Amino acid sequence: MAYDPVKYKQDSMDSWNVRAHDYHSGWAGAGRGPFRSTKELVNAASISKDDFVLDVACGTGAVSKEAHSRLGPAGRLVGIDFARGALKIAKENVPAGHFIEMDAERIGLRASFDRVLCQYALMFFPDPVRVLSELRSLMKKGGLFAAVVHGTAQGVPYFSTIMEPVLKRIPDIRPQGTPTVHRFGDPEDLKNALVAAGFTDISVKKFVFDYDAGRFSDYWSDYMATTASAIRARIEAKGERTVSEIRAESEEKAQKFMENGAIRFPWDVLVATAANR
Ligand SMILES: C[S@@+](CC[C@H](N)C(=O)[O-])C[C@H]1O[C@@H](n2cnc3c(N)ncnc32)[C@H](O)[C@@H]1O
Repeated sequence: MAYDPVKYKQDSMDSWNVRAHDYHSGWAGAGRGPFRSTKELVNAASISKDDFVLDVACGTGAVSKEAHSRLGPAGRLVGIDFARGALKIAKENVPAGHFIEMDAERIGLRASFDRVLCQYALMFFPDPVRVLSELRSLMKKGGLFAAVVHGTAQGVPYFSTIMEPVLKRIPDIRPQGTPTVHRFGDPEDLKNALVAAGFTDISVKKFVFDYDAGRFSDYWSDYMATTASAIRARIEAKGERTVSEIRAESEEKAQKFMENGAIRFPWDVLVATAANR
């Protein structure tokens, strides 16, 4: 089955609407594991108090909140996301921000931003270079773009410890060509996309955070309920035996991250900045 970008986006929007609450309380809002990047991203963007800031695919507003805390009375913050459920939380989270329901691939804004931020979303856009080019056209000359993405499958074992055993048994779990969370895990791919969009002065910095996933049973149930929510039904449709095999292999792979009975995963994150000159 070929990957259909329109269906992919519709499914993704539905999934983020449903997951927004758990995502906020368990991950982004709690600043857990990879979300320690929020502060690093906002620091890298060197926001001034009067800036006009755009948070692209703002989700539940973790980055917006941190960015807004750096602004003075004349500064403004706009967040866009296509998931209404996530935006509702963002509005509660950052009452002084302006949040708009919008597809990042069809930005209907006429504005000129000093800073554009994007955390853990670039890899999900079917045409990321087009989005980046459009974002650049919405920035002031001298403005700065800053983004965070996940590292490679090897650098983010939280995803790959379960996903590799799934893919081994169900290689077509996602249609061929579907964007993956690791799409910009190689810094060269991220740099190339930024160059193709016309940005200059590109810097990519790697951070390694820890993520405490608890006992294997906690990790498995949390992963299935959140990260794998969109594919869970397809995994379960393969039958109990396949699910048990996937679980057993994942547990074996998780052993190397076990410390005193609990899993501690390293988590590679890339923080990029790029200028619009
Ligand atoms: C992993 S979350 C990151 C949210 C937020 N940036 C954060 O750091 O918590 C990914 C977000 O991207 C949004 N998203 C994905 N594709 C999008 C698109 N084409 N347009 C707008 N939002 C999109 C999802 O709705 C979701 O809120």
